Amino acid sequence: MHVFKTNKDLIYFLENERIKGNKIGFVPTMGALHPGHMALIRNALKDNDISVCSIFVNPTQFNNEEDLKKYPRKVEEDLGKLEHEGCQVVYLPEDHELYDDPSMLRTTINFGGIENILEGRYRPGHLKGVGLIVAKLFNIVKPHNAYFGQKDIQQFYLIRQLIHDLSYDIRLHCIPTQREEDGLAMSSRNRRIPPEYRPVASKFYECLLECKQLLKDGQDVEGIISFANDYLSGFFPLRLEYIALVGTEDFSLLNRKMDSGQQALCIAGYIDNIRIIDNVLLN
Ligand code: PAJ
Repeated sequence: MHVFKTNKDLIYFLENERIKGNKIGFVPTMGALHPGHMALIRNALKDNDISVCSIFVNPTQFNNEEDLKKYPRKVEEDLGKLEHEGCQVVYLPEDHELYDDPSMLRTTINFGGIENILEGRYRPGHLKGVGLIVAKLFNIVKPHNAYFGQKDIQQFYLIRQLIHDLSYDIRLHCIPTQREEDGLAMSSRNRRIPPEYRPVASKFYECLLECKQLLKDGQDVEGIISFANDYLSGFFPLRLEYIALVGTEDFSLLNRKMDSGQQALCIAGYIDNIRIIDNVLLN
């Protein structure tokens, strides 16, 4: 397994692979890898000759200093997992490789509104930070295929729009959410859930499934919001931030389930001070 710490070395290596006609798959991550990430890696390995996993805790997508500071960093463990899975290339840049002089970084990407609702509303600047780092990584790695998880569904649709609007020649893949046995969506942040609160963590997913059924039975989104608030308030220390229905075609908010087109029911909340997001598809 090749581990590159500089753009220059990575670009040189991948350029040679492209000349040989090899297909390049790319899985961007922030590390603390879990089976959700590994599902993306396995898909990349299946479709490509060379799979690249990047591990970079991107400071520009954190709107909360504390969250950035506490974000788990497990590089040695991560490298072991990637090696074991057969990943060929790891890109492990220091901050200055991607943001040499933060005061020179003036470009922002306007995604036309998708970045301001749900995650964008509750984590201002987060999705713009994601969009910018993914654009930078795409330009460095120049993959044929890129793999993202359904767990971060708004991120997925933002990247889909980025690829379309900026004409990246990249095929995008959405990998279903990997869950713990009790349904909790796997996440690097789950490591921070205190063990005494772990049993109630799956209630977010249970709440989503209950609400999905209510929507199918004709309940509107206002009814779902009040149901979810009541449901989660029964499980200390859970707190609902939002629950919302979106049409995935343009990621717009809906008031009720539609008969046609794919829709997703998205939830975000806190267990104590740890943020959880999840979603289920409706059709
Ligand atoms: P990170 O949270 O490390 O996630 C990396 C990728 O793994 C994302 O595409 C995410 O959706 C996917 N993923 C996380 N948990 C998953 C699960 N339980 N099942 C399936 N896929 C899962 O998302 C980011 O990093 C960053 O925003 C990044 C795209 C790397 C940009 O900095």
